[in-house]
Amino acid sequence: MIDIYMAEILSFSKDPTKSKLSSNSINYYKNGLLIIENGFIKDVGNYENIKKKYMINDSDINKIYKDKLIMSGFIDTHIHYAQTEIIGSFGEELLPWLEKYTFPAELKFKDKEYASKISDFFIHELLKNGTTTALVLGTVHEESIDAIFEVANSIDMRLIAGKVMMDRNAPKELLDTPKDSYEKSEELIKKWHENNRLLYAITPRFAPTSSNEQLKLAGELKKKYPTTYVHTHLSENKKEIAWVKSLFPQSKNYLDVYDSFGLVDKRSIFAHAIHLEDEEYQTLHDKGAAISFCPTSNLFLGSGLFKIREMKKENRDIKIGLGTDVGAGTSFSMIKTLAEAYKVISLEQNNNTKREAFGSFEAFYQATLGAAQSLYLDDKIGKIEKGYEADFIVIDFKPDALQNLRINKIEESKKSDLEKLEEKLFALMIMGDDRNIISTFVNGKKVY
Ligand code: GUN
Ligand code: ZN
Repeated sequence: MIDIYMAEILSFSKDPTKSKLSSNSINYYKNGLLIIENGFIKDVGNYENIKKKYMINDSDINKIYKDKLIMSGFIDTHIHYAQTEIIGSFGEELLPWLEKYTFPAELKFKDKEYASKISDFFIHELLKNGTTTALVLGTVHEESIDAIFEVANSIDMRLIAGKVMMDRNAPKELLDTPKDSYEKSEELIKKWHENNRLLYAITPRFAPTSSNEQLKLAGELKKKYPTTYVHTHLSENKKEIAWVKSLFPQSKNYLDVYDSFGLVDKRSIFAHAIHLEDEEYQTLHDKGAAISFCPTSNLFLGSGLFKIREMKKENRDIKIGLGTDVGAGTSFSMIKTLAEAYKVISLEQNNNTKREAFGSFEAFYQATLGAAQSLYLDDKIGKIEKGYEADFIVIDFKPDALQNLRINKIEESKKSDLEKLEEKLFALMIMGDDRNIISTFVNGKKVY
């Protein structure tokens, strides 16, 4: 099965903030052709070159997206599918919000039928927003993970998920035990990890809801199955951090709690990481662990302002992805998440003499290839390049009158194609949302 797409095509080859000339890190084909075969990218390039190389006739081009942009699907590196129903619950900070809205919502996922219904809704919502891979927390119930993986598997989606491990400081119906959480997680690893495109994440919710014994067993699981992920929360809220200090007085800092149990490694993803100490930044870097930056959630819960420029320092470039963190996050849209990231980064640097704003190339890189790198999946997803898995989206820059007006203004200017693209992407990230996503393709197939 071969499909040939004609569109504008954009892909990143590395972090555009790390090269002097942005053109070195960006592959942009204003008149592009993309060939997809059996779920993989067979080739991509300029219309003329690809046409000649494969002796393609115009009549062979079966997917024409005139004036539309094809790019890699978005990768959401932190989201709770069981919180879909409680998105936008009124005004609390982290700990009371968990008690009041989150834990009651998660109780319902013991029921497999309910979990399957929400899984269907959730996956559709991701695809509608152009997200083709996500790192997902389920609930403490193994049924929740069967449900979400079944739906993802039915469309060959690359999804990472895990059962929450939680043995204290939550309602007792939501608690497991160290032994039970180890065994259930292991069963799920054997059933789902590397099953087609699915991957498993060992998921202690956060330090306060796990005993030492549970974290120790989680670390043993990671050691036994090193290609699995570790997915949890870190330093989101100041009261949470004080609580962690009181629960784990022997630890040097919050990250050290996880580190002392072998949970900080490649493929460990920590959500938030807003209030870190210097030593924690260094450990994250040295261990090759990653952070998920969740701006809509951090603003919604008043948690604080993420310090991306501290993370991306020359000598300690920490792996970063963006996360929506639904349901503390307020949108499934990675486009809207980028807009909030831009504002958080601007605010956070208010007192710096040399501000480095979050440009659109950096933003879309972080939402695609940057996230793939943070998950150690950048040899498979995150690029529109020969040999990569065919997960991509088609973007319309002009879904409404205002965006149309704005984009036309950019297109009329005398700037270079790359400069115009940068401005169009910026307008997209500030004003756009799911209306800009006209189609989503997973494994080479149209799924939205
Ligand atoms: N920390 C522990 N659990 C959660 C959660 O469900 N959401 C957020 N934002 N932070 C957490
Ligand atoms: Zn979260």
